[in-house]
This record gives sequence, C-alpha cells and structure tokens, in this order.
Amino acid sequence: MRKVLYAAAAAALVGSIALAADPMETVTARQDYYKSLGAVMKPMGKLAESFDAEAAKAEAAKLEAALAVDVRPLFAPGTSDAEFPGKSRAMAKLWDNMEDVGTKGKAMHEAAAVVIAAANAGDAAAFGEAFGKLGGTCKACHDAYRVPE
Ligand code: HEC
Repeated sequence: MRKVLYAAAAAALVGSIALAADPMETVTARQDYYKSLGAVMKPMGKLAESFDAEAAKAEAAKLEAALAVDVRPLFAPGTSDAEFPGKSRAMAKLWDNMEDVGTKGKAMHEAAAVVIAAANAGDAAAFGEAFGKLGGTCKACHDAYRVPE
C-alpha cells in the first residue's frame, strides 16, 4: 500500500515536471526532488547507526519510489547557475558532461539497489556498509556538478 502511494506521488511529480515550461519551475522541481531524496537519506543514516529492520524496510520503499522517478526532465537546458545565479546550484558544465552525469546517476542507482536489498533482508551490517557507499555516490555528483553553498 505504502509503495502504491509513493508510486502515485512519483507519477504526480513527473506529471508536473512535464508541464513546467518555465525554466525556473524546472529548477524548483529539481531542488524539490533532491530535497525529497535527502529526506529519505536522513532517517536511513540514523538506521545505519542503529538498525531497525521494520523501519529500514519502510525507508527502502521510499528510496525505491524516489529513484523510480525519471529525472531527465529535471535537467532541461537553461536551468543552470549561469541562467539563475544564486538560485540554481547546478553548474553549467553539467550540461557539457551529460554522459558522465548519467554514469554518476547509474552509480547511485546501483548503490541504492544494494541498500534496498540489505534493508529488505534485515541485514544491519550490509545495510550500514551499503548506505555509506550510496552517500559516496551522491557526493561524487555534488562535488563535480553542484555549486558549493
Ligand atoms: C547525477 C548527479 C547527482 C546525484 C547522483 C545526486 N545529486 Fe543531489 N544534486 C545534484 C544537483 C545538480 C543539485 C543542485 C540542484 C539545483 O540547485 O538546481 C543537487 C542538489 C541536492 C540537494 C539540495 C536540494 C535543495 O535545493 O535544497 C540535496 C539535499 C541533494 N542533492 C541530495 C542528494 C542525495 C541524498 C543524493 C544521493 C542519494 C543525491 N543528491 C545524488 C546532483 C546530483
């Protein structure tokens, strides 16, 4: 049930992205998306320190739903910090390196799959290790393409 709800929320998010003709709306949608990803990672970080099988399963379902969203519309051209300085934190060079961005996105998805599997298996040690790796894949993209705060 929970899964169905999140899938519906994800579908609604994609729908609204597809309608966003205004580039600033795309920036906001992108930031909202990543905020939601960050919001899933936070409780997972706590679980990595102090594991709870039921909670880990619930968070894994949220992560799965968040990662089922097609983020490509969020990376429409004309939405970098060059066009929206101080608002968009996506570096302009991101659009010159789409292949690498895709590779970094794939690395995140692969790392997340390991986290989700560990959560569903109730394996605390595997979960902790996989969570650390997942965080590293977020950081790799941020270090390369996100304007530092
Ligand atoms: C392929 C590149 C990429 C990956 C992978 C990635 N991010 Fe990001 N993230 C970005 C970019 C680019 C921004 C800046 C977006 C903007 O300001 O328009 C961002 C912004 C954010 C923000 C700030 C949102 C805001 O404006 O408040 C958070 C939080 C975040 N990411 C979390 C994560 C987490 C957690 C992961 C891993 C599970 C992750 N990101 C993986 C590229 C990535």
